[in-house]
Amino acid sequence: MRKVIYNRFGDESVLEVTEQAVPPIQNDQLLIRVKAVSINPLDWKVYGGDMKLMSGSTFPKSVGIDFSGMVEQTGSAVARFTAGDAVIGVLDVFKGGALADYVVVKEADIALKPANISFEQAAALPLTGLSALQIMDQLAAVSANQDVLINGATGGIGLFAVQLAKKRGAKITAVVSTKGVTQATQWGADSVVDYTKQPIKLLNKRFDAVIDLTTKLSFREAKNLMKPNAVFVSTLPSPLAIIASFINNIFSGQKHKILIVKPTADGLTTLTKLAEADLQIVLAKTYFFANVRQAYREARQGKLIGKSVIILD
Ligand SMILES: NC(=O)c1ccc[n+]([C@@H]2O[C@H](COP(=O)([O-])OP(=O)(O)OC[C@H]3O[C@@H](n4cnc5c(N)ncnc54)[C@H](OP(=O)(O)O)[C@@H]3O)[C@@H](O)[C@H]2O)c1
Repeated sequence: MRKVIYNRFGDESVLEVTEQAVPPIQNDQLLIRVKAVSINPLDWKVYGGDMKLMSGSTFPKSVGIDFSGMVEQTGSAVARFTAGDAVIGVLDVFKGGALADYVVVKEADIALKPANISFEQAAALPLTGLSALQIMDQLAAVSANQDVLINGATGGIGLFAVQLAKKRGAKITAVVSTKGVTQATQWGADSVVDYTKQPIKLLNKRFDAVIDLTTKLSFREAKNLMKPNAVFVSTLPSPLAIIASFINNIFSGQKHKILIVKPTADGLTTLTKLAEADLQIVLAKTYFFANVRQAYREARQGKLIGKSVIILD
């Protein structure tokens, strides 16, 4: 089978397509024939070596965190899935390995794919969908009539965060670049700020939750946009920020929460139900496996709306 690996940290040029044996499974594991894999900023942060503390520095390493596919084989202790099931799944974010013809998982890593969405859309759902759910329900605890600012609202997490905040009845201000204005409004934003024309630091409004999906807004800057007991959610779990937020949260009414996404089977099931209802999953671009390096390079350059996906043809 084909599998993308790398043997040193660097840019997309370190990614190599290799030929490997199909891995065997244990009793409690399943073999999945991968159909599509989504692209996440975490991919290039890990293969770029920015997350060595978490990923370690031993090689070879693998790429690809979330995927869709078909169950090919099940271990004898697997109860909830059978061969032929279409599934979505998420792997350890620092180990990856989904960018391969086959991947080995446990039952808790997957959920049945909603029948009403394509394999490409299904691959785009798990990691950023779980991140958006965790931000809405656990970190920011967004509820009806709250004023919520979502900075970076047309990216992979933003796409779901806007829709989930809308479902919770929040009043959403979405911050996007010019091409994202129409899209953010269509997903449910009540007002949209084009950051290329209006710096958000100058916004004359205070929010109950400020959600930064760009990693460019510091807590210090966000404070000027927050009501006295508001929450700031950032997506950059640097050790320094974690310590600073811990100390801040003891003394200040304005809380600083940091996303460290925790994939769960329940979370995946919640996402599949939302997708079966009306959750929009917007694809920015799809690529074939042969164009893996180009796919990551273009995604890293940004300026796309929604999620990019690699198809295992
Ligand atoms: N800590 C965790 O557990 C965890 C889990 C998942 C993801 N993450 C991180 O969360 C972040 C967001 O993930 P994602 O998948 O949503 O990334 P993404 O798809 O790259 O989205 C980021 C968005 O930010 C926008 N943006 C860039 N500069 C901006 C600015 N100055 N002002 C406003 N918006 C700006 C981009 O829009 P334009 O291109 O149009 O400017 C883009 O839509 C990433 O850094 C990712 O690594 C962390």
